[in-house]
Amino acid sequence: MSFLAREAGIREQMAAFGARWFPAESLRAHTSLGVGGRADLVRLRETRRLPELMEYFNRRGVTWRLLGGGTNLLVADEGLDDVVLQLVREPDGLKFEGRRVEVSAAANLGTTVTECAKQNLGGMEGLVGIPGTVGGALWMNAGAYGTQIGDVVRAVTLFCGKSGHVEVLRTEDARFEYRHAGFAADDVLLSVSLELPERPYAEILEKIKECNQKRRASQPINEKSAGCIFKNPPGHSAGRMIDELGLKGTRVGGAVISERHANFIVNRHAATAADIFQLMDLIRERVLQAYRVELEEEVIVWRKQLKVES
Ligand code: EPU
Repeated sequence: MSFLAREAGIREQMAAFGARWFPAESLRAHTSLGVGGRADLVRLRETRRLPELMEYFNRRGVTWRLLGGGTNLLVADEGLDDVVLQLVREPDGLKFEGRRVEVSAAANLGTTVTECAKQNLGGMEGLVGIPGTVGGALWMNAGAYGTQIGDVVRAVTLFCGKSGHVEVLRTEDARFEYRHAGFAADDVLLSVSLELPERPYAEILEKIKECNQKRRASQPINEKSAGCIFKNPPGHSAGRMIDELGLKGTRVGGAVISERHANFIVNRHAATAADIFQLMDLIRERVLQAYRVELEEEVIVWRKQLKVES
């Protein structure tokens, strides 16, 4: 529980910001892995009210975290004391102008790719099967099949936690690297301007189909997962190393290393986050022993922050 939960009339106060208050919400229901404890959730409909809401949080010393689509997220079983903030997608999510499109960060990534295709705009075909929001994809610089979202981004509109203002960041000022985009922890992405190459609709669809087939053949897309659990270390493939060690099918509690792709942990039997952490530790140890390579998490992990005693 966040200490905001003890504020009198918190539901009404949030409503005054155009937000809804969900106390002690189970985050399991908000993540594709389907594990995790509880936290107070605030869903903000009117994103233009974000600076006011942030000021309100800052004045009260409320710590918060931003939830996107929850598709690359592992939440610990004990839940969080921080408030979890989620932006609700606005209906007019996409605005086209020539080869440019302005997309709300809360928009679904796959839908965005297909809507752009209908306007004969390609360049994002590889991203189509990645679940989650545009903002989430951008935060991690998500990528697949030769495309990273950072490649087509021209500008990002964000609420800058440091300045307390909404700012526009040009691509030149961003740092898009492998699964990393360099945003500050207290930045909130609001919308993104993409510039896409013009291509015939049929050609884009064909490429999308191809990527979907590849993904279906090599990834457990019908099971609960958070995508790849570890980053590929430079010069190595995490999936191949875990596979070579014969770890596919290894189970801890309800969590299993996928038989289809060894860098996926799937929640097959009502797993807990603890099961997944244990399986991750096992993988890390075995890979370190055998290959002398330290695996780094690709999935974002949310745990309670340690309280510093004074
Ligand atoms: N491989 C195995 N066994 C496995 C899995 C993979 O031997 O169980 C081998 C493959 O045969 C291939 C190599 O490892 O030779 C690479 O595998 P794959 O092509 O499946 O790609 P990946 O490096 O494992 C990356 C991304 C995926 C993305 C795919 C497709 C990372 C950590 N993963 O996987 O992204 O979908 O390429 O482009 O960068 C994600 O970010 O969550 C994710 C799933």
